[in-house]
Amino acid sequence: MFRRLRWIFFGLCDELAHNLLPSQQICDVPPKRVLVTGGTSGIGEATCRRLGANAIVGGRNMTRAREIASEIGASCVRVDLSSPAAAVASARRARAFHPDVLVNNAAVMGKSRSETMRVNVVATAAFTRALGAPVVVNVGSSSHLRAQRFTDPKLLADDTKDDLRAYAASKLCLMHYSQLLREEGVCVRDCHPGIVWTPMLKEYLRYPNLVEATGLRRLLFKHPAAAATSLLTAAFLPNNLTGYVVHNRLQPPTSLRISPAVHDPKAIAWTKENILKEIYTT
Ligand SMILES: NC(=O)c1ccc[n+]([C@@H]2O[C@H](COP(=O)([O-])OP(=O)(O)OC[C@H]3O[C@@H](n4cnc5c(N)ncnc54)[C@H](OP(=O)(O)O)[C@@H]3O)[C@@H](O)[C@H]2O)c1
Repeated sequence: MFRRLRWIFFGLCDELAHNLLPSQQICDVPPKRVLVTGGTSGIGEATCRRLGANAIVGGRNMTRAREIASEIGASCVRVDLSSPAAAVASARRARAFHPDVLVNNAAVMGKSRSETMRVNVVATAAFTRALGAPVVVNVGSSSHLRAQRFTDPKLLADDTKDDLRAYAASKLCLMHYSQLLREEGVCVRDCHPGIVWTPMLKEYLRYPNLVEATGLRRLLFKHPAAAATSLLTAAFLPNNLTGYVVHNRLQPPTSLRISPAVHDPKAIAWTKENILKEIYTT
């Protein structure tokens, strides 16, 4: 309870302060090939644009993926995460591009609970496993700190519209998946980009035009290009460094910005046995 109150106060102050500061830029993008899922919109698109020719734009909308790829001189590949089977087929296509880094950026928010868990966790895990990239960045969210009742397997079958509870649960379960990958020796970083003005967020807000017109957008939300810096920081840390990038800084696991549930062995085992069952039994 005390931890949660502390997070509400310090966490929100930190998000706000970060949005007001000018974003730190990465000077050189190393010549590594980075596959970004959901590379056709928001933070993913901004990340691909920053990577330029080193990007592999992963998108389910191939017209848009080709458009972006040709503008920046990059490659593109169809990545569909609507089901684990579609994700595995997408990974088979993507393997031909030999990515050095996979950025699991694609996600949904505000859809049904089952779609949220399927896209954000199960299909993302199936894609990661079938691709086998040496470095993985899982795009999380500070919402994982508020994940409650994530130990409910019904989330995978519940078609009720999500009130952000499934989204928060999905981001916590994705961090559990990161822990499982670390145990397998994969170099994984979780990245929390902050609160960012993107189509996902605008779709969820009731009055996005009002937020824009009153100037609150600039005060409260980061630009996707600033969020891209966080993803690239996570992607290009030296290989021996693993952990959690919040905004543009690597955090210790005990940080106030990381839920203790991420490291709880029982919670990790629960996610493996219930949410990721399909991935670990095939
Ligand atoms: N915006 C924020 O404030 C915020 C805060 C914390 C974390 N994040 C995280 O940042 C990441 C990017 O979000 P965003 O805000 O940039 O949202 P966005 O603009 O809506 O981008 C989401 C991307 O995911 C793709 N996608 C959705 N369902 C898919 C599926 N079934 N198969 C393949 N691709 C699919 C979308 O494809 P289409 O282009 O075809 O729709 C889109 O390119 C997400 O992981 C999100 O949870 C965002």
